Amino acid sequence: MAQLWGGRFTKETDDLVYRFNASITFDRKLFEQDIEGSIAHCVMLEKQGILTCEEKDAIVKGLAGIRQDVLEGRLAITEQYEDIHSFVEAVLTERIGDAGKKLHTGRSRNDQVALDMKLYIRGQVLESAACVGNLMETLLSLMEKNLDTYMPGFTHLQKAQPTTLAHHLGAYFEMFKRDVSRLEDIYRRMNYSPLGAGAFAGTTYPLDRYYTASLLGFEGPTLNSMDSVSDRDYIIEYLGALATIMMHLSRFCEEIIIWNSNEYRFVEIDDAFSTGSSIMPQKKNPDIAELVRGKTGRVYGALMAILTTMKGLPLAYNKDMQEDKEVTFDAARTVKDSLTLFEGMLSTMKFRTEVMEESAMKGFTNATDAADYLVGKGVPFRDAHGIIGELVLYCLEKNTGIDRLTLEELKAISPVFEADIYDAVSLKTCVEKRLTVGAPGRQAMEEVLRLEREFLAKAWYKENSLR
Ligand code: ARG
Repeated sequence: MAQLWGGRFTKETDDLVYRFNASITFDRKLFEQDIEGSIAHCVMLEKQGILTCEEKDAIVKGLAGIRQDVLEGRLAITEQYEDIHSFVEAVLTERIGDAGKKLHTGRSRNDQVALDMKLYIRGQVLESAACVGNLMETLLSLMEKNLDTYMPGFTHLQKAQPTTLAHHLGAYFEMFKRDVSRLEDIYRRMNYSPLGAGAFAGTTYPLDRYYTASLLGFEGPTLNSMDSVSDRDYIIEYLGALATIMMHLSRFCEEIIIWNSNEYRFVEIDDAFSTGSSIMPQKKNPDIAELVRGKTGRVYGALMAILTTMKGLPLAYNKDMQEDKEVTFDAARTVKDSLTLFEGMLSTMKFRTEVMEESAMKGFTNATDAADYLVGKGVPFRDAHGIIGELVLYCLEKNTGIDRLTLEELKAISPVFEADIYDAVSLKTCVEKRLTVGAPGRQAMEEVLRLEREFLAKAWYKENSLR
């Protein structure tokens, strides 16, 4: 057991207590952030005259060596240390001697761990946004190819009005666009450095917190040292953003599972993204879509866990906060994998456009347009609604569609119908006449596609300015 705080203790820590308390098994993930933060702290200590130039050089070189050795597998982060901070300091002191013991001057593990987590989350926010962006690129190219692919749109999972595949996919594009901008908000709001807050009350050493903040790419230092060590809002916000991404993915998965079902057959998931059954030879199951939908639960769970952990904590640091790590690491990984796999599934999926079109034709999705046709001929809308209702009933009995009735049959229900009804209720007309901004008509969609393309081209995660 290697601890940083044996001095005032007369007994060895109980083994179970030690293990319950230790965080090395998971905070080892933060070793690069810990070293990056320590280098900035030490460079600042020298600038402020707290360390000599030789001490600083030895520490920086030692820390860089530890990073290199861990990355290249020559140095193992073992459970003999309590946490990642103890590991780095112990190995440093072993390697460079007394100078290593000076690294922690003017610092506490409280501001150290707050910094490590901020650096880690900041990187993850950027990576998550890029992963969502990657999926959006795929969506956009599918949209560009399917402006004239007609399909039924649904409400209550009942066929409602015709739309296009581009329009349907475009709804998800908008959701992911909000996800990307939500992550940008989080990045900007969280990007202040807690380093130098000490245990919670700052320190008597003349630290330059503006300097360390700028060395580490932060906007500036946080402004209250109590809040600095006890703020985990950015983790909660990040988990909230991840939970929302999963909610979007899960809805999309649900639709793909329905579309891929034997009844719908709108899509066929590629063999590489499907699995078979151990007993039913004919089966090809949409497991990836189901798993992404299923994993939504654990990401929501992470958000609930941290919200609950933070609730009721008095200021400032409390050990409860150590619980912020495992679930957050897991959620970040889960969302990244889900986005990557989902993108792969989507880009290899076969869209059965003829089946979609046939389904739109058969489901009375043109009933609203048929009513609008009558309105165009002077029939009040409420009456037109009633007439088309009768027509639908008639079609249901005859197992046919409005556009397949003869003019005589139509006229028997309302004399207002003329030969131009057929063009008025064709799928193409129904969709193409919908030209309000955001509607599926080709012209309206083309303008939207231009804006969506522009959003991706200028997406914040591609800029260097925030890094
Ligand atoms: N492992 C701790 C955590 O993750 C580091 C901070 C420990 N600070 C303390 N005062 N015990 O929160």
